[in-house]
Amino acid sequence: MASKRANAAGDEQPKLSPSGLPVREIPGSYGVPFFSPLRDRLDYFYFQGAEEYFRSRIAKHGGATVLRVNMPPGPFLSGDSRVVAVLDARSFRVLLDDSRVDKDGTLDGTFMPSLALFGGHRPLAFLDGADPRHAALKRVMIRLAAARMHHVAPAFGVAFAATFDAVEAELASCAGAASEFNKHNMRHMLDFTCAALFGGKPPSKAIGDGAAAKAYKWLAFQLHPLASKAIRPWLLEELLLHTFRLPPFLVRRDYAELTAYFADVAAGVLDDAEKQAEADDPGAAAVPVPRDELLHNLVFLAIFNAYGGYKIFLPHVVKWLARSGPELHARLAAEVRAVVPRPGTTITLSDVEKMPLVKSFVWETLRMNPPVEFQYGRARRDTVVESHDAAYEVKKGELLFGYQPLATRDERVFGHRGREFVPDRFAACSDDDERRRLLEHVVWSNGPETGAATEGNKQCPGKDAVVAVGRLMVAELFRRYDTFVATVEESPVEPVVTFTSLTRAAAASSAAAAGDHDSVVVVKP
Ligand code: HEM
Repeated sequence: MASKRANAAGDEQPKLSPSGLPVREIPGSYGVPFFSPLRDRLDYFYFQGAEEYFRSRIAKHGGATVLRVNMPPGPFLSGDSRVVAVLDARSFRVLLDDSRVDKDGTLDGTFMPSLALFGGHRPLAFLDGADPRHAALKRVMIRLAAARMHHVAPAFGVAFAATFDAVEAELASCAGAASEFNKHNMRHMLDFTCAALFGGKPPSKAIGDGAAAKAYKWLAFQLHPLASKAIRPWLLEELLLHTFRLPPFLVRRDYAELTAYFADVAAGVLDDAEKQAEADDPGAAAVPVPRDELLHNLVFLAIFNAYGGYKIFLPHVVKWLARSGPELHARLAAEVRAVVPRPGTTITLSDVEKMPLVKSFVWETLRMNPPVEFQYGRARRDTVVESHDAAYEVKKGELLFGYQPLATRDERVFGHRGREFVPDRFAACSDDDERRRLLEHVVWSNGPETGAATEGNKQCPGKDAVVAVGRLMVAELFRRYDTFVATVEESPVEPVVTFTSLTRAAAASSAAAAGDHDSVVVVKP
């Protein structure tokens, strides 16, 4: 807690925080109710964009990185847009400290989607870590993630092959053709997510070709208040996406179809969870989580947490690869092929563990572009938040918000190249301690990269699987291709990456020429 100090003569000294930083008033203001949140929303979505929205306000307040700002969507979707934004690596830590922030209902920030979208239940990710239902549900998710870890690499290998067979076919369809990665990723990563988590028939077979579109529609009904540049002109988008809630009944049938799929494919997980709950607590009169509630949680886990994350994360991986160019591609290919020389085998998790440049590349992607950029939590009590140079008093009940890319690109932690993508940043560390110190501040999983999900914290239980998938993506790409060219168009949620050429690995091409491989295409500009 902050304290006042007096010198020998009895003069009052400025208030200092526990670590000796001057305690300052939080700069910034919320402006005129209704009108200022509305104006700020336009700045945020259209006139400035998220990053500039925060950077311009930091500059306006003399470099202060703890600020009072409004966060969209504002009127009429959220009752209260006011937050205390923490915008550097040090102050951001408050959001990862479960003893200081209450995360009940804060997943989407200043608004809460209708529970009708989740079968009437409040999914795990919306529960605070201190809620006993959180522990009961999280236990199931942690066990599931651990039990299915060995399915990640083979399932990803299948999805990768399907994605890039489709990309190659599109590129080969006519001269000058291009192929958008996001479109194929969206389709095949849903199948991957379900295969990795549950096995059984993938959604594209069980539900049909429209499965990914149905999943996407359900996500859009939850997140439309935060979407931007999806509909033109923006005035129409303002009206349709940012003014009122899209009625859940419009997605009811799609959600019912998805839920029926998961009831079938995840039946074993639901049965095991019931048995396990009895084993954990033998005298209990009832299982802690009713089967129906767990089922809706599994739908949320698979589509929102996992698929939603991969849908954003993998385009960022490919984006940074595209920008890195042929020299880095050659280094990656050499590293990958030294470990997995033969095409046609599954690249395993222990294979990618032996690839320092690949590992570094993926951590750097997660540092530069944490796929979930926003974190929120409500102060459990009056508290002092410290940035690098000052401390700020936050009152109990105030909503804290962190824009993660500013925290994970902080030059005070990552050095003068903190805002640049440095592929071998984590491979070039002088020793393991130095790497660990940096990884402490890679927090895309809502916790440090050196930490782990527990029943009592809010860290992502899919963390290890996600990092593995990133590594597998890079390894699979550079086993199959020598290099590639793609254009990148930044957009608010995920970058749009469009391949214009893929150059098959020389070994794979000659194998194909010899008739060992039936679908090799060497596509060049
Ligand atoms: C690229 C993919 C993924 C990303 C970017 C991601 C990111 C995150 C983040 C940021 C959170 C914390 C949200 C918050 O409270 O602010 C979270 C929570 C969660 N994630 Fe992941 N995740 C991904 C994949 C997965 C996978 C594969 C699983 C499957 C096990 C998973 C399961 C969960 C669950 C259950 C939670 C809620 C944890 C809790 O409330 O205690 N996620 N994830």
